[in-house]
Amino acid sequence: MDILVIGGGGREHAIVWALAKSPKAGTIYCAPGNAGIGKLAECVPIAVSEFDKLAAFAVEKQVGLIVVGPDDPLAEGIVDAFDATGIPVFGPRKNAAEIEGSKTFMKDLLHKYGIPTAAYAKFDNYEEALAYLRQQGAPIVVKADGLAAGKGVTVARTIEEAEQALSDIMQSKVFGDAGSRVVIEEFLEGQEMSILAFVDGETVKPMSAAQDHKPAYDGDQGPNTGGMGTYSPLPHIQPSIIEEAIETIIKPTAKAMVAEGRPFCGVLFAGLMITPDGRPKTIEFNARFGDPEAQVVLPRLKTDLLDVFLAAVNGTLADLELEWSDEAAVCVILASGGYPASYPKGIAITGLDNEQDGTIVFHAGTSRDTDGTWRTNGGRVLGVVGLGADIAAARAKAYERAEAIAFEGKFNRTDIALKALQ
Ligand code: AMP
Ligand code: GLY
Repeated sequence: MDILVIGGGGREHAIVWALAKSPKAGTIYCAPGNAGIGKLAECVPIAVSEFDKLAAFAVEKQVGLIVVGPDDPLAEGIVDAFDATGIPVFGPRKNAAEIEGSKTFMKDLLHKYGIPTAAYAKFDNYEEALAYLRQQGAPIVVKADGLAAGKGVTVARTIEEAEQALSDIMQSKVFGDAGSRVVIEEFLEGQEMSILAFVDGETVKPMSAAQDHKPAYDGDQGPNTGGMGTYSPLPHIQPSIIEEAIETIIKPTAKAMVAEGRPFCGVLFAGLMITPDGRPKTIEFNARFGDPEAQVVLPRLKTDLLDVFLAAVNGTLADLELEWSDEAAVCVILASGGYPASYPKGIAITGLDNEQDGTIVFHAGTSRDTDGTWRTNGGRVLGVVGLGADIAAARAKAYERAEAIAFEGKFNRTDIALKALQ
């Protein structure tokens, strides 16, 4: 079966890599893909926002399945836009993707169904929001309602910081329409974890839990990024807490979406806080694989990913058991100097072609010259994954390979997965 994967980052490289292992996979197309993905798939120069062109391409190539990676096209209704093609699509429809696309929708849903999350209030009026902020005091969390490339959330330690964030969102409109409404939320303390699950309607098949590192620098310092590194599983988190999160948060949410007439098909990704009393609470929901969560979870999945996707789109996920490898995985992101602010592109990368056992390099932002030279082409450039018997072994592998890759301005965190070892 030929497949079209939509997206062009490290997450999509991991998806393509896992699909390529399936004996049932024929040609894999990836739009737009990237230079690394190009080793496994045929990259197609169509942007993720060009729904009509993507649909026409899928029909022309008679693909049997379309897989959507990124959040923006999902929120904009790409899955609905493929309806006329009759081709099955792995990914939620627009009305289900709203669980990520609108924080007020997500918070209201969880509130309505009694699913654990931080206390909140929502506003579309600046003065009222400001009065509420002042009344609540810091620490407090201010969130733009819509998608803001992962930058719409401010965890404010002081009231001044909170007021600045509110003014940026609602008055200066730094996130445009995504900031016409805000959610102001109770600050939750604790340890974060991500649980991703394959979902079709009420059926939930959880993946192995993972942890991301969002701040740019060691010790969780610096500006927030899309994610600087991940690991899976989480040996330091009690299995009973993970189980509780699945039973009290993810399954009830999938059920609530069905009850609301918005059945979810795809990957439902819960960002959770384990509060000091040991209870998991929801921070956010995403309607897709995490990036770089996919890079550590998919290499550990022993079940054929194409079988999983097909079961989800056929509504037979309940009959499938997921099998996981005992190995641990750690992903270290190599980023361009300047990221997450502005950074140069086109810098030559060396050391990429020296394969090392127990490692995989997923490309997030690279290009390749006709003479074979690899170049940087994004803020997050590469995700270097190490696999090993435990987190310590996987971590050592990842860093060994990461150090063998060089480009001017390259930086990475040096403390990925350390929390699991302390
Ligand atoms: P989000 O974009 O919703 O994932 O939020 C980005 C980050 O902000 C999360 O990964 C958390 O670290 C932090 N965050 C969001 N909401 C809260 C909250 N209510 N309490 C504490 N931290 C939060
Ligand atoms: N790594 C976080 C995300 O994909 O949202």
